[in-house]
Amino acid sequence: MLLTLHARAKINLYLHVVGKRADGYHLLDSLVVFADLGDALRIAPSRTLTLSIDGPFGAGLPASDDNLVLRAARALAAALAAKNLRAEGAALRLTKRLPVASGIGGGSADAAAALVGLTRLWRVPEGAVDLAQIGLGLGADLPVCLAARPSFMGGIGEILDPAPALPNIQMLLVNPRVGVSTPAVFKARRGAFSAPGRWRDGLGDAPALAARLARCANDLEAPAIGIEPVIGEVLTALRHLPGNLLARMSGSGATCFGLFANAEEVREAAARLSVEHPSWWIASAPMLNGPAAFDHDAPDA
Ligand code: C5P
Repeated sequence: MLLTLHARAKINLYLHVVGKRADGYHLLDSLVVFADLGDALRIAPSRTLTLSIDGPFGAGLPASDDNLVLRAARALAAALAAKNLRAEGAALRLTKRLPVASGIGGGSADAAAALVGLTRLWRVPEGAVDLAQIGLGLGADLPVCLAARPSFMGGIGEILDPAPALPNIQMLLVNPRVGVSTPAVFKARRGAFSAPGRWRDGLGDAPALAARLARCANDLEAPAIGIEPVIGEVLTALRHLPGNLLARMSGSGATCFGLFANAEEVREAAARLSVEHPSWWIASAPMLNGPAAFDHDAPDA
């Protein structure tokens, strides 16, 4: 059996820091969606567990023991062993198309894809292990990446509620090729906690979603800009693009997104921005407003 799985970019359409736990983790309220764009994880049977990495951002990510994909595989194997279920090996190959440590959950999406793919490869009986629980031990964004559908996220990332209906909308993702440390950004946050931003009703079209989101924020944007001022430049550049409905940073940065109503506008915006800022990573993709299957229809070979 040879499997190829999508590990899609996770975007925080808004992110409110609503409190702090005694252990230092922050309580969040966030609307998380996925872009139809991401890394690919190929999984082949093997007696041992191995990982190789290629792709445009592959060089920046060592396939070392602490790689989140290998940690996910080992955590799943340990959870299976605890239930007297056998885990075999696997040869994992990650094609890294998303910038690393960039606020769009690349590592978490890769680890989620590993957990889902390995349960298939190893034929783990349905319900034998709690993947979200295993995932949460690896990172706060793992549960939502496993759910792979638009969700309101609460707690530190473990409480998920399906989002109300969202319209078709196009996303422009921009990373100025700087990495920011998530703990450093959380630490730099100042001021009062926010109220939750979530809502109940479906939104009919792209401008309605953008208008609703404009009443929320990413509370990590200001601290991230304090650490990497170029993030502020990215947001300004996005806001100046014709057709831009909203510009915001995702997660703890540095990747920012712009929202656009249609595919032609986002294509033109991407072309224009790559002329103005040839060194930035720029990608456009539709937002997935329903479940984002891990299945990959590209040939397995
Ligand atoms: O769990 P994850 O690896 O995404 O988090 C990295 C770091 O970000 C944590 O060690 C913590 O310092 C900070 N964090 C936080 N509150 C969250 C998520 C992350 O303070 N909800």
